[in-house]
Amino acid sequence: MAINRTSSHGEWSSRTAFILAATGSAVGLGNIWKFPYITGENGGGAFVLIYILCVMFIGIPIMLAEVYLGKRGRLNPIASIKYISEKENRSKNWRVIGLIGILAGILILSYYSVIAGWTMAYATRAAFGVINNIDAVGATLMFNNFVSDPERLLAWHTIFSIMTAIVVSKGVKSGLESAVIRLMPALLVLLLALVIFSAIEGDFVGGVEFMLYPDFSQVTWKTILIAMGQAFFSLSLGMGALMVYGSYLSSDISIPKTCVIVASLDTLVALLAGLAIFPIVISSGLEMTQGPGLIFQTLTVAFGAMPGGQLFGTLFFILLIFAAWTSSISLIEPMIIWMIEKYNLTRIQAATISSGLAWLLGIGTIISFNVGSEIKIFNMNIFETLDYLTSNILLPLGGIMITIYVSWLISKESINKELNIKSNILRYIWYFSARFIAPIAVIMVMLNALGFSIDGVL
Ligand code: PHE
Repeated sequence: MAINRTSSHGEWSSRTAFILAATGSAVGLGNIWKFPYITGENGGGAFVLIYILCVMFIGIPIMLAEVYLGKRGRLNPIASIKYISEKENRSKNWRVIGLIGILAGILILSYYSVIAGWTMAYATRAAFGVINNIDAVGATLMFNNFVSDPERLLAWHTIFSIMTAIVVSKGVKSGLESAVIRLMPALLVLLLALVIFSAIEGDFVGGVEFMLYPDFSQVTWKTILIAMGQAFFSLSLGMGALMVYGSYLSSDISIPKTCVIVASLDTLVALLAGLAIFPIVISSGLEMTQGPGLIFQTLTVAFGAMPGGQLFGTLFFILLIFAAWTSSISLIEPMIIWMIEKYNLTRIQAATISSGLAWLLGIGTIISFNVGSEIKIFNMNIFETLDYLTSNILLPLGGIMITIYVSWLISKESINKELNIKSNILRYIWYFSARFIAPIAVIMVMLNALGFSIDGVL
């Protein structure tokens, strides 16, 4: 029977193991690097509030739907959906969801790996004491010098790409569980230590106020789209990563609780990162709108001034590398499983091809910070275009198709069996959110932000 099929790729040892792997995927550069800088660029409090609402009302319902697909299909995202469609008498064309996801994963990985490379460079700098006693001007100068050198960025990007390729060519399960269970708590502790430092040394009241006081006068549809895109990005949603991890999940586990835990942990890490960073941005006179360099500039100032900063800084950046590593694995895994199943490649071949592709595409991001900064697509540089296309278009598009497919077209028996929602009220809430709230919200935000104002229509 379909429901009792087991994955040929192995299964998680327990629910905890799945929570760990999904958290490993969710928590990464998105929380610590991206969340603070886009919050800074988008005005603070109101953006944070909209972000949290998106996680609750769009992210969590879609997450359940995505894990459902993996748990029931137990194959790569494209084949899973094809299989489920056959069983449910639905069009096989829905498997395009899997294709969008695989594409999004590789595109994201291409720039993700470049930024992970920055983190490695900064871990090295922290370890050698290069950032000791650095001030805000020095930190800005250091960052600008760093990103203006394509050779260096390429070298670090290459190292990180190889690291990702090595892990995925061995198979995700080995090592992932034990790595995440040790590293995640350590990352949380160091983040807390950073927040305490910010509270003492930074402008904590100013930082908290920036992050929590909502000023809606600046909010546009574009702000909402970016907050929503960030919810998808940060939760690793809409591209098949959680589908693949869900496909390793044994069939008797309750998905909803698991998803709520993962989403809460992910949001907690992002909020802590904000609390650590904004007070220092203000007290050191840096700009909130600094962009992708924000954490590299503020954190170096903080570690440079902190007692024991050389050690803390090194540890922090190393943990961030690990967090990025566990996320990058999940970005590439859907493509790898697909290549193995569809083209009969070995894991090593699939890992080499897909990491090679992401590596090559990553060069576009590298040059957008230096020699190619003038290359603009829709007024954005290559990195910004890739980020916009994936976070704000492909992931929401994948997410909306997943939620519509699962909540409208799949039999209730199968949903009940796989999702295992015990309480009737909760099941009703999930159906309502997955069928109506999430799709309507995503469509409305996308249409408005992309320029088709619905004002005229209504
Ligand atoms: N969620 C990861 C992060 O926040 C990035 C990611 C996106 C991973 C999409 C997998 C899929 O860093």
